[in-house]
Amino acid sequence: MTQTLTLRRPDDWHLHLRDGAMLQGVLPETARHFARAIIMPNLVPPVVTGAQAAAYRDRILAALPEGMAFEPLMTLYLTEGTDPADVAAAHASGLVKAVKLYPAGATTNSHGGVRDLAKVTPVLEKMAEIGLPLCLHGEVTTPEVDIFDREAVFIDTVLDPLRRRIPELRVVMEHITTEEGVAYARAGGDRLGATITTHHLIINRNHILVGGIKPHYYCLPVAKREKHRLALRQAATSGEGRFFLGTDSAPHVDALKEHACGCAGCFTATNTMQLLAHVFEEEGALDRLEAFASLNGPRFYGLPANESTITLTKGAPAQWPAKIFTEAGPVTVFDPGFPVHWHVEG
Ligand code: NCD
Ligand code: ZN
Repeated sequence: MTQTLTLRRPDDWHLHLRDGAMLQGVLPETARHFARAIIMPNLVPPVVTGAQAAAYRDRILAALPEGMAFEPLMTLYLTEGTDPADVAAAHASGLVKAVKLYPAGATTNSHGGVRDLAKVTPVLEKMAEIGLPLCLHGEVTTPEVDIFDREAVFIDTVLDPLRRRIPELRVVMEHITTEEGVAYARAGGDRLGATITTHHLIINRNHILVGGIKPHYYCLPVAKREKHRLALRQAATSGEGRFFLGTDSAPHVDALKEHACGCAGCFTATNTMQLLAHVFEEEGALDRLEAFASLNGPRFYGLPANESTITLTKGAPAQWPAKIFTEAGPVTVFDPGFPVHWHVEG
């Protein structure tokens, strides 16, 4: 018996598209299934001003193949020099949908991020006033803090104090990876949302380290122990409005992943919807996939859900390319390590 599932077209609330040849190569992988995505600004150099975001948006739209529809939702990269007036203007024009805070040094291309939160308080207060969400990479960078504890310590020492100082600020905890992240998001009220990636629903830290190091499973925040993966699965499949899909699909060419100092990032744009159908079916929650992938995100961001739909069908083992060949080099597609039987039609 063929099982089919029709959903409002999904959106991706956390996506890395990069620029140039990489952008050209990976954009169709997202646009095939997703109507819109929140575009991360950690280019080199980063997308800091409204003018830079407008130019990047034009480059994304120029890279979109004929006949494909896709709306990039732009973000600004918060720096200690960011001008609150520029942020407000970029929001008022409809161009910018969020501002991204990277603690300096936390992840790929984050060295220009924020060292001292006090320096960005005027921007955050302006954002609270105009209702512009802050997307947070929620990890401390303190060298003494163990990499597996960096999210939980961030919540206690940075996020909670910040939200107490500026309670009106809308915050998205990006790519949560821990049960502490799930619990904090749940207790946070309707100004707090949290994105969950596809890969963090599938892998735990053993997948990265047991039986040889697997660089294509290395991402930041790094996957944690199994109890955290289970907490994320429960949250994503709960139907609760605060949890929504942000794939954090983060392409790096294989040469930089399979390296003595490999880059962080899993590339899941190609097979996210197939994998999510598999995960939600395992959790007995196929009827909640639409909330997670298509409804909760737009509601948090104050945007309408998409009118168009996609249909998933269950059948023969699904296949996708092991790699995407971009002009920048090959990019390995996330391999869940088990067969998947869900397909996206059309
Ligand atoms: C992202 C990247 O490569 O830009 N990497 C990752 O592991 N997720 C940055 C980020 O979102 O942390
Ligand atoms: Zn990311």
